[in-house]
Amino acid sequence: MKEQLLEVVVKEMQQGVVIINDKGLILYANPFFQETFAVNLPLEGINFTEVVEDAVLLNTVETVLSSEARQSKEITIKGKGNQILEARLIPFSQNGLNGVIGFFHDVTEEKRVEAIKRDFVANVSHELRTPLASIKGYAETLLDGGLEDKGVLKNFLTIIDRHANRMTALIEDLLTLSMLESHQIPMKFEPLDIRVLITNVIQGFEKQAKDKGIELIIESGETYRELPKVMGDRVRLEQVIVNLIDNAIKYTNKGAVRISVRILDNLMQVDVTDTGIGIPEKDLLRIFERFYRVDKGRSRELGGTGLGLAIVKHIIHGHSGKIWVNSNSGGGTTFSFTLPIN
Ligand SMILES: Nc1ncnc2c1ncn2[C@@H]1O[C@H](COP(=O)(O)OP(=O)(O)O)[C@@H](O)[C@H]1O
Ligand SMILES: [Mg+2]
Repeated sequence: MKEQLLEVVVKEMQQGVVIINDKGLILYANPFFQETFAVNLPLEGINFTEVVEDAVLLNTVETVLSSEARQSKEITIKGKGNQILEARLIPFSQNGLNGVIGFFHDVTEEKRVEAIKRDFVANVSHELRTPLASIKGYAETLLDGGLEDKGVLKNFLTIIDRHANRMTALIEDLLTLSMLESHQIPMKFEPLDIRVLITNVIQGFEKQAKDKGIELIIESGETYRELPKVMGDRVRLEQVIVNLIDNAIKYTNKGAVRISVRILDNLMQVDVTDTGIGIPEKDLLRIFERFYRVDKGRSRELGGTGLGLAIVKHIIHGHSGKIWVNSNSGGGTTFSFTLPIN
């Protein structure tokens, strides 16, 4: 009874288990092990070396089997599907039977998250260090005797101020992202008229657009009364529209930015279309990642943090909506998102 239960446990385990005897023959392999190493034939009685190619794993099994001390070993290896596996190899000796039991734990996701965190910290440090280095450089130059010339003084202080603003923007975006990710501030859903929201946002961009000679247009096929309300967090959705229009204006040199709203079944779709520089195809998939920018220099110059779209994506997902982008390099970009309507 107990043995049968144990067999079920091993069979159902979300960890690969393999038992190898001291001749290197497999005595038992559970389904997870088979899947991990992508083998469909019955493994019992087959030599371990025929199933696994990873030299590190084979050597380690050998070592565990042959070493005097017969110590357990832990290693990290790659599975057949390129998964990262932590393998624990434990020698056993029972009723004259010697061998190794191997446990294989898939840590791909953990490693991926770890790598993202590491990259993120490195990115943040780098992004903060750049403006800080400039601020320090200009301040030092001024202290070294640049204070007399009023023109230089004003010029340098303006640059220092700009870099300080960039750091502030970055820190604000980081805090927003962190709050969104940790759900510290829950979304406050209320029925919203998306067109009113867009109109309000557009007003704030009129000067910026006019200065660049860009026309801001809001389009909607439905009449005012026909457009249903969406359940959404006003402040957050405003942030989405601000970020998208800000990008559209920033990355457009001439032409127009068009915002359209339409209803598709039980969804409302908003498109923000510009006639700007576009996004190269190779970058399209990564554009929503934190700090991912097509042209870092250009984005920084324009006061960008590289976090806008990451924030936007988070907010839309928090509304059970979808967001995507279409673009031709050089031929304009459309960011679209949907929100459910009930
Ligand atoms: N409308 C657009 N047209 C062209 N490129 C865009 C557009 N919107 C976003 N991008 C690209 O996506 C990148 C990331 O956008 P975002 O996260 O808002 O960061 P930021 O605007 O601070 O650089 C931008 O740096 C830019 O390269
Ligand atoms: Mg932006």
